[in-house]
Amino acid sequence: MNTPTALELVGVSKSYGPLTALNNVSLSIKPAQFIGLLGQNGAGKTTLFQLLTGLFNSDEGQISVCGHDISQDPIGALSTLGVVFQQATLDLDLTVHGNLKFHCLLHGLSRKLAEERINSELDRFDMQAVRDKQVRSLSGGNRRKIELIRALLHQPKVLLMDEATVGLDPESRKSLVNHVVSLCKEREIAVLWSTHIVEEVQAADRVIVLDKGKILAESSPEELQAQGIEPNLSLADAFSQLINNNKEIGVAYE
Ligand SMILES: Nc1ncnc2c1ncn2[C@@H]1O[C@H](COP(=O)(O)OP(=O)(O)OP(=O)(O)O)[C@@H](O)[C@H]1O
Ligand SMILES: [Mg+2]
Repeated sequence: MNTPTALELVGVSKSYGPLTALNNVSLSIKPAQFIGLLGQNGAGKTTLFQLLTGLFNSDEGQISVCGHDISQDPIGALSTLGVVFQQATLDLDLTVHGNLKFHCLLHGLSRKLAEERINSELDRFDMQAVRDKQVRSLSGGNRRKIELIRALLHQPKVLLMDEATVGLDPESRKSLVNHVVSLCKEREIAVLWSTHIVEEVQAADRVIVLDKGKILAESSPEELQAQGIEPNLSLADAFSQLINNNKEIGVAYE
């Protein structure tokens, strides 16, 4: 039997006035796959996340999350999605527990189940010590971990992480990536991890390179490295080469 698809996009396009932010994007992610979405500033990563979360409608194409079409059945789709947006969205004046509890209640969990989930996720991330602290008092790395915990409380099947490591030091970045890679495998969650930092996707099952709204390449990190003209390219060099070739061809913003 074929493994079901966790996330599927077919021919998705989105323009802001004359600017084509996404141009005929198709991709498919299966459970327990960690997919790196690699793109420079303005590539269209956040636009893609906004379409996946139903904040905007695409101009063309279909998006389905665990079989739920985002435009026909947004509630079904959103109930299976966990999201960490590029900009932090925790309430700084509430405690960690307050932020997490509110999310559980929004997702219709009973108070008892909410407490059980909050406790087990705080344990899993070794974050019980900050449970009753105001979010304002937390380090940037811990705030991001709390956002990740919040995204997991309703037990999503697909996790969207949009530049979740922005502002973190290299150690905290590595720690967050490692946490998400292990969650992906342990809980069979499909992960779409967007970033412009190449090291973060070195361990991905597949890397999708997005530039000026178009997918330029999709393969394992090793295959991407092997595609370069010179042998033994690093992943960072292979990424730069793809972007530079695209500049020369001048395909985007048609
Ligand atoms: N609401 C909007 N109105 C008009 N143009 C927009 C809007 N949002 C994004 N854009 C433009 O669409 C393109 C894609 O932007 P997007 O934010 O999706 O890229 P990104 O890959 O997330 O970039 P970054 O790495 O800087 O976060 C950019 O040229 C951006 O200026
Ligand atoms: Mg962005």
